[in-house]
Amino acid sequence: MALLLKKIIYRKDGGVMKIIVTGGAGFIGSNFIFYMLKKYPDYEIICVDKLTYAGNLSTLKGIMDNHRFRFVKLDICDRAGIYQLFEEELPSMVVNFAAESHVDRSIENPSVFLETNIMGTAVLMDACRKYGIQRYHQISTDEVYGDLPLNRPDLLFTEETPIQASSPYSSSKAAADLLVLAYHRTYELPVSVSRCSNNYGPYHFPEKLIPLVIVNALNDKPIPVYGTGENVRDWLYVDDHCKAIDLILHQGRVGEVYNIGGHNEMSNIDVVKTICNRLGKSHSSIAYVTDRKGHDMRYAIDSTKIQNELGWFPETRFSEGIQKTIQWYLENKDWWETIISGEYRNYYKKMYGDR
Ligand code: NAD
Ligand code: DAU
Repeated sequence: MALLLKKIIYRKDGGVMKIIVTGGAGFIGSNFIFYMLKKYPDYEIICVDKLTYAGNLSTLKGIMDNHRFRFVKLDICDRAGIYQLFEEELPSMVVNFAAESHVDRSIENPSVFLETNIMGTAVLMDACRKYGIQRYHQISTDEVYGDLPLNRPDLLFTEETPIQASSPYSSSKAAADLLVLAYHRTYELPVSVSRCSNNYGPYHFPEKLIPLVIVNALNDKPIPVYGTGENVRDWLYVDDHCKAIDLILHQGRVGEVYNIGGHNEMSNIDVVKTICNRLGKSHSSIAYVTDRKGHDMRYAIDSTKIQNELGWFPETRFSEGIQKTIQWYLENKDWWETIISGEYRNYYKKMYGDR
């Protein structure tokens, strides 16, 4: 067992474990970096991030001086830049979080989603082939499975559910998944893929439902709920997602897909009302607005595989996770006030102005 662990943790040349984490200035990537630096005192993390509108260097300010952390501003589509970085660092693993991640933006402008989510993934994997890698891990999403009907609570997404993406975002993620699995079959690249349900927690960009509701409620602004608010998502606290990725990286089987879910299905309107109640805000601010085009009805994950194989289960109950999240937004107003006072204002006007 000790030998096996050693083999996993250290590179062949005896160097320390180096992980390239792409998209680490975003929501889940940053939480993952914090989690890994804390859990593994001898790991080195190199964060590669283009710093799009969704990437925030301020999120990483607490670790910028950590000698085990390096930030590199780089587009994952920049082949020459990525190859140069691999040559310098010779990473042991790559965890690819970098993506355009917001469904509504993909409906407005699909092309950047295809570029980053598909082409960027290919560049990273080509670099892994060229320089060698112990593991390439692709952060995917439950949205690749399409959606489930509200009247069939017995149906859940398993890893065998056919890919049937609905939005430009989810189809770009599905295309990337297929490419990752093809690189495994064709080139024997040691890959793994995880498909997770909706995350929530600190550093979540306020274009997404939960942080948007918290921020708008705190600012006494209308809270936009698409359509009837009956759509269901399976919410998972971000730390539980990080734990699952860590397990897959170290113990998950190469070439496999693992579903990750919260066992916590909630309708959007219930989520919104819960947040209003916790903040002591009236429901009168809730505004039902024009629905999202092609809006997926329900997501629900069957995570039996990761539970049975790796012993993972979601540890944070929603009632606890949402309280921690709200508290974080109350204590970190600077972080989100800087965001919503910038380019975000134009985005908000465009998306919600005439809705
Ligand atoms: P996010 O939008 O908060 O962060 C994305 C990060 O990627 C940002 O820091 C951004 O600057 C960076 N980025 C974008 N394009 C890049 C490029 N071309 N090169 C380098 N960096 C680039 O996203 P998130 O919510 O943290 O999601 C991270 C990953 O997890 C995504 O792949 C997403 O598809 C997946 N995912 C998200 C959720 C969720 O609920 N948020 C659930 C399941 C899966
Ligand atoms: O399921 C995983 C996915 O979860 C990830 O792959 C995506 O990157 C992530 O953005 C998220 O996608 P969703 O579309 O489910 O998340 P979003 O927060 O945008 O919306 C959640 C639900 O809330 C959805 O049914 C749409 C609705 N909604 C959203 C916004 C922004 C509203 O009703 N009002 C809003 O203003």
